[in-house]
Amino acid sequence: MVYLTRIEHFNAAHKLYNPNWSREKNDEMFGKCANDNWHGHNYELYVTVKGQPDVDTGFVFDVKRLSLIIKEHVTEKIDHLNLNLDVDFMKGKICSTENLAVGIWQQLKPHLPAGVQLHCIKLYETPRIYVEYYGE
Ligand code: NI
Repeated sequence: MVYLTRIEHFNAAHKLYNPNWSREKNDEMFGKCANDNWHGHNYELYVTVKGQPDVDTGFVFDVKRLSLIIKEHVTEKIDHLNLNLDVDFMKGKICSTENLAVGIWQQLKPHLPAGVQLHCIKLYETPRIYVEYYGE
Protein backbone atom coordinates (compact mmCIF):
# COMPACT_ATOMS: atom_id res chain seq x y z
CA MET A 1 0.00 0.00 0.00
CA VAL A 2 1.34 3.43 -0.95
CA TYR A 3 0.15 6.68 0.59
CA LEU A 4 -0.14 9.83 -1.50
CA THR A 5 -0.77 13.30 -0.09
CA ARG A 6 -1.97 16.45 -1.81
CA ILE A 7 -1.79 19.77 0.06
CA GLU A 8 -4.34 22.51 -0.54
CA HIS A 9 -4.80 25.88 1.09
CA PHE A 10 -7.80 28.01 1.98
CA ASN A 11 -8.76 30.95 4.17
CA ALA A 12 -11.97 31.05 6.09
CA ALA A 13 -13.71 32.93 8.87
CA HIS A 14 -15.53 31.36 11.77
CA LYS A 15 -16.39 31.59 15.40
CA LEU A 16 -16.69 28.92 18.01
CA TYR A 17 -20.06 29.24 19.63
CA ASN A 18 -22.51 26.75 21.12
CA PRO A 19 -26.04 28.18 20.74
CA ASN A 20 -27.28 25.99 23.59
CA TRP A 21 -25.00 27.79 26.04
CA SER A 22 -25.12 31.24 27.62
CA ARG A 23 -22.87 34.03 26.39
CA GLU A 24 -20.82 33.65 29.58
CA LYS A 25 -20.31 29.93 29.16
CA ASN A 26 -19.27 30.40 25.51
CA ASP A 27 -16.78 33.08 26.49
CA GLU A 28 -15.42 30.91 29.26
CA MET A 29 -14.99 27.85 26.98
CA PHE A 30 -13.94 29.49 23.70
CA GLY A 31 -12.46 32.82 24.76
CA LYS A 32 -11.60 35.09 21.83
CA CYS A 33 -12.69 32.34 19.42
CA ALA A 34 -16.31 33.06 20.45
CA ASN A 35 -16.03 36.69 19.31
CA ASP A 36 -19.34 37.57 17.63
CA ASN A 37 -17.61 39.46 14.82
CA TRP A 38 -15.66 36.42 13.62
CA HIS A 39 -11.98 35.77 13.04
CA GLY A 40 -10.09 33.98 10.31
CA HIS A 41 -7.49 31.31 9.73
CA ASN A 42 -5.13 30.31 6.96
CA TYR A 43 -5.89 26.62 6.80
CA GLU A 44 -3.57 24.02 5.27
CA LEU A 45 -5.35 20.88 4.16
CA TYR A 46 -3.46 17.59 3.69
CA VAL A 47 -5.49 14.94 1.91
CA THR A 48 -3.90 11.47 1.96
CA VAL A 49 -5.16 8.62 -0.20
CA LYS A 50 -3.83 5.09 -0.40
CA GLY A 51 -3.72 2.31 -2.94
CA GLN A 52 -1.46 0.19 -5.11
CA PRO A 53 0.47 1.99 -7.83
CA ASP A 54 -1.14 1.43 -11.22
CA VAL A 55 0.83 -0.86 -13.52
CA ASP A 56 0.63 1.52 -16.47
CA THR A 57 1.13 4.91 -14.76
CA GLY A 58 3.00 4.03 -11.57
CA PHE A 59 0.55 6.30 -9.76
CA VAL A 60 -1.66 5.53 -6.77
CA PHE A 61 -3.92 8.21 -8.18
CA ASP A 62 -3.55 11.08 -10.63
CA VAL A 63 -2.62 13.89 -8.26
CA LYS A 64 -3.93 16.57 -10.62
CA ARG A 65 -7.29 14.85 -10.58
CA LEU A 66 -7.14 14.60 -6.78
CA SER A 67 -6.49 18.33 -6.62
CA LEU A 68 -9.49 19.03 -8.86
CA ILE A 69 -11.75 16.84 -6.71
CA ILE A 70 -10.59 18.66 -3.56
CA LYS A 71 -11.15 22.03 -5.21
CA GLU A 72 -14.60 21.18 -6.52
CA HIS A 73 -15.98 19.55 -3.39
CA VAL A 74 -14.09 21.35 -0.62
CA THR A 75 -12.04 24.47 -1.25
CA GLU A 76 -14.46 26.17 -3.64
CA LYS A 77 -17.17 25.68 -1.02
CA ILE A 78 -15.20 27.21 1.86
CA ASP A 79 -12.34 29.42 0.61
CA HIS A 80 -12.78 33.09 1.59
CA LEU A 81 -16.13 32.25 3.16
CA ASN A 82 -17.63 32.11 6.63
CA LEU A 83 -17.75 28.53 7.88
CA ASN A 84 -20.69 29.24 10.20
CA LEU A 85 -22.84 31.06 7.66
CA ASP A 86 -21.84 30.10 4.13
CA VAL A 87 -20.91 26.42 4.12
CA ASP A 88 -23.73 23.92 3.61
CA PHE A 89 -21.86 20.94 5.03
CA MET A 90 -21.08 22.79 8.30
CA LYS A 91 -24.65 23.94 8.94
CA GLY A 92 -25.73 23.18 12.49
CA LYS A 93 -22.23 22.14 13.57
CA ILE A 94 -19.75 23.92 15.78
CA CYS A 95 -17.08 25.09 13.32
CA SER A 96 -14.08 23.64 15.10
CA THR A 97 -11.14 22.31 13.13
CA GLU A 98 -12.14 18.83 14.32
CA ASN A 99 -15.64 19.10 12.86
CA LEU A 100 -14.32 20.73 9.71
CA ALA A 101 -11.91 17.82 9.13
CA VAL A 102 -14.79 15.34 9.49
CA GLY A 103 -16.94 17.43 7.14
CA ILE A 104 -14.16 17.53 4.54
CA TRP A 105 -13.78 13.74 4.77
CA GLN A 106 -17.51 13.31 4.14
CA GLN A 107 -17.35 15.70 1.19
CA LEU A 108 -14.45 13.88 -0.47
CA LYS A 109 -15.06 10.21 0.18
CA PRO A 110 -17.97 9.71 -2.26
CA HIS A 111 -16.01 11.36 -5.06
CA LEU A 112 -12.94 9.14 -5.07
CA PRO A 113 -13.00 6.37 -7.67
CA ALA A 114 -12.83 2.67 -6.89
CA GLY A 115 -9.30 1.48 -6.19
CA VAL A 116 -8.22 4.55 -4.24
CA GLN A 117 -9.14 4.91 -0.59
CA LEU A 118 -9.23 8.04 1.51
CA HIS A 119 -6.76 7.53 4.35
CA CYS A 120 -6.45 10.78 6.29
CA ILE A 121 -7.60 14.36 6.42
CA LYS A 122 -4.99 16.45 8.21
CA LEU A 123 -6.03 20.03 8.73
CA TYR A 124 -3.81 22.79 10.09
CA GLU A 125 -5.66 25.69 11.67
CA THR A 126 -2.36 27.40 12.53
CA PRO A 127 1.23 26.25 11.94
CA ARG A 128 1.14 24.83 15.46
CA ILE A 129 -2.34 23.33 15.68
CA TYR A 130 -3.70 20.57 13.50
CA VAL A 131 -6.17 17.73 13.63
CA GLU A 132 -6.19 14.39 11.84
CA TYR A 133 -9.20 12.30 10.90
CA TYR A 134 -9.06 8.72 9.63
CA GLY A 135 -12.76 8.12 9.13
CA GLU A 136 -13.35 6.35 12.45
NI1 NI B 1 -10.53 30.06 15.17
